[in-house]
Amino acid sequence: MNIKGIRGFKDLLPGEVEKWQYVEAQARRVFGLFGFAELRIPILERTELFTRSIGEATDIVGKEMYTFLDRDGDSLTLRPEATASMMRVHLEHGLFIKEPVAKYYFIGPMFRYERPQKGRTRQFHQIDAEIFGVQDARADAEILAMLMRYLRTLGIKNLSLQINSLGCPTCRTPYKEEIKNFLLSKRESLCEDCQRRLETNPLRIFDCKKETCQDLLTEAPVVLDYLCPDCREHFEQVKSLLQDLNLSFSLNPRMVRGLDYYTRTAFEVVAGELGAQNAVTGGGRYDGLAEELGGPPIPGIGFAIGIERLVLLLTEKQHFFKHPEVFLATLGQKAQKKGFTLAQDLRDGGVWAELDLEGKSLKGQMRKADKMRSPYVIILGEEELNRNRAILRNMATKNQEEVPLEEIAGRIIDRTKGTGDVGQMADKNER
Ligand code: HAM
Repeated sequence: MNIKGIRGFKDLLPGEVEKWQYVEAQARRVFGLFGFAELRIPILERTELFTRSIGEATDIVGKEMYTFLDRDGDSLTLRPEATASMMRVHLEHGLFIKEPVAKYYFIGPMFRYERPQKGRTRQFHQIDAEIFGVQDARADAEILAMLMRYLRTLGIKNLSLQINSLGCPTCRTPYKEEIKNFLLSKRESLCEDCQRRLETNPLRIFDCKKETCQDLLTEAPVVLDYLCPDCREHFEQVKSLLQDLNLSFSLNPRMVRGLDYYTRTAFEVVAGELGAQNAVTGGGRYDGLAEELGGPPIPGIGFAIGIERLVLLLTEKQHFFKHPEVFLATLGQKAQKKGFTLAQDLRDGGVWAELDLEGKSLKGQMRKADKMRSPYVIILGEEELNRNRAILRNMATKNQEEVPLEEIAGRIIDRTKGTGDVGQMADKNER
């Protein structure tokens, strides 16, 4: 076959997919504890939605969007993130009227034309959560508490939460002037992109990956020192609430996030072992976004977790690699027939039952049961069948017992009830 997949667009195969199912199921469970409802948004949006919200001067809008004209000549874009779309949905459907305070989450693919590398793809996936309608610092602390609880649930260690405050337009305008003045004398040493950024949005210079530009910024003023009294008070409250919740964090005054809509609290969760692409989550407050999109003033705060990066950090394999609860091994045609219907009875009882469909020998079937790590095997042989019996083998202890045929399904169903439930395993993990 010579048609290949597209660079930066990955196929997910069995063996990997289980990890994704696990992290998605856990997100639904943990976010449910905080009352978040799922939103499903389209993959395509009008380009304007992103240029207006993320900002023209950002790398995402300037270099990374998959934008094209459709057959009607409308400019459409494959969504590079979910926050703007979620706010659009909230406004367009008047949800804010019924639910002035709304908590939504979303899971799905995003698209950015970036250079693929470890932890960075062109189609990537996010788990995104947003709270709309609350300005109070408790919303900031609540969303961070949910995020950190979720990551803890997955058993991921060595993560660090970094926070900053980016202020509001009132405090940011003089700050932008300040940073511009600071860099004007060094203009010639900035890269071409940053020279442009100096005019359009000097804050974006902090996003530059070039070492020379970053070096110039080491002495630069930071926005934290320019916060107005209201923004300062808000940030103090956020920090104090995080301390009340025993959530450790560090201040990163140089973190500006790569999207223009942020105001006040901004944060990232970084994992050292991810290498260059170390941010597993990014988020923050965006109190001006709703108005930017033509709606009433609706404050908001949220985060997005990159699933590709998240699964790279998973270590506790036992939580996502599942195995059949019982394997049916049969010898002879009569037994094969019986095994076939018995498997259905077991599934009726909620048990994952596997059986051989290839006509393997009994030895071959036992080998397969072992390979699939099934804890029990029901062996149906002709001789046992004639006596209305089956053999139940415990694969760990190698113990075998004869069980009357009419009891065998019930026995397995009773034994396996309550196991394999993702929710219960995660609870154990969280404690
Ligand atoms: P972001 O920082 O652009 O924020 O992306 C969030 C996360 O998505 C990153 O921390 C990373 O884990 C993942 N990510 C981003 N780009 C890629 C890529 N090319 N390949 C793999 N993973 C990637 C946002 O998108 C905001 N909408 C977050 C937010 C929600 N702010 C408020 N609410």
